[in-house]
Amino acid sequence: MVSILITAGPTREYLDDVRYLSNGSSGRMGCALAAAALASGHAATMVLGPVDVPPPDGAEVRAVVSALEMQAAAERAFATADVVLAAAAVADWRPAQRQQGKPARAAGSWQLELVPNPDIVAGLAARKGGRVVAGFALESTAAGLPAAIARGREKLVRKGLDLVVVNLHDAIGSDDSEVVLCFADGRDEALPRQDKSATAARIVAAAVDLWQQQRPKAADA
Ligand code: C5P
Repeated sequence: MVSILITAGPTREYLDDVRYLSNGSSGRMGCALAAAALASGHAATMVLGPVDVPPPDGAEVRAVVSALEMQAAAERAFATADVVLAAAAVADWRPAQRQQGKPARAAGSWQLELVPNPDIVAGLAARKGGRVVAGFALESTAAGLPAAIARGREKLVRKGLDLVVVNLHDAIGSDDSEVVLCFADGRDEALPRQDKSATAARIVAAAVDLWQQQRPKAADA
């Protein structure tokens, strides 16, 4: 049994007690990954932002709201994880300050100061040891498939990942997905456009395979 940590859903970065910045993300891929992990006899821990879809029965769920909360919960769960699948749509920035209550709407424009959020998966990958760490990259195919894969591969290198799942169409809220798995050893594996549960099953199997291949190396280190 492999212990699989999944980050999923969006994060919310509150400006005040009511307003927030976020990303469009249904959390469906993350829930499909957890369901696939459980169906294969693995343990699944989800660090889950605010979503409407229910996580699968049997997953251990840590509910979070902001990117900083997601980072703290993911770092805690990382200690006992073998494989990390970072499917969350983390907000890139958060307001520099959060105001109390709901300040009244004022006429005219106003400027909001944003500060960057930490890259959660890159932080985990930097101290992964024998773990396998996989990320997701939503890339437009407007410039062609090779360009989308190249952008995904750039993230794989920059974030220190073992695998990046390049999402080829805007799958937010959809039941379908069309992805290419880009492995750190240079292999690309294109999956057909199919139900997210079938895609999730292949992603989990690929990540677990990598973990099993890496185990002897990690034990020698
Ligand atoms: O750079 P980009 O946002 O496209 O990278 C997407 C991947 O990085 C996803 O796996 C996502 O979960 C992860 N990520 C993260 N923390 C961030 C931004 C992205 O873990 N602050």
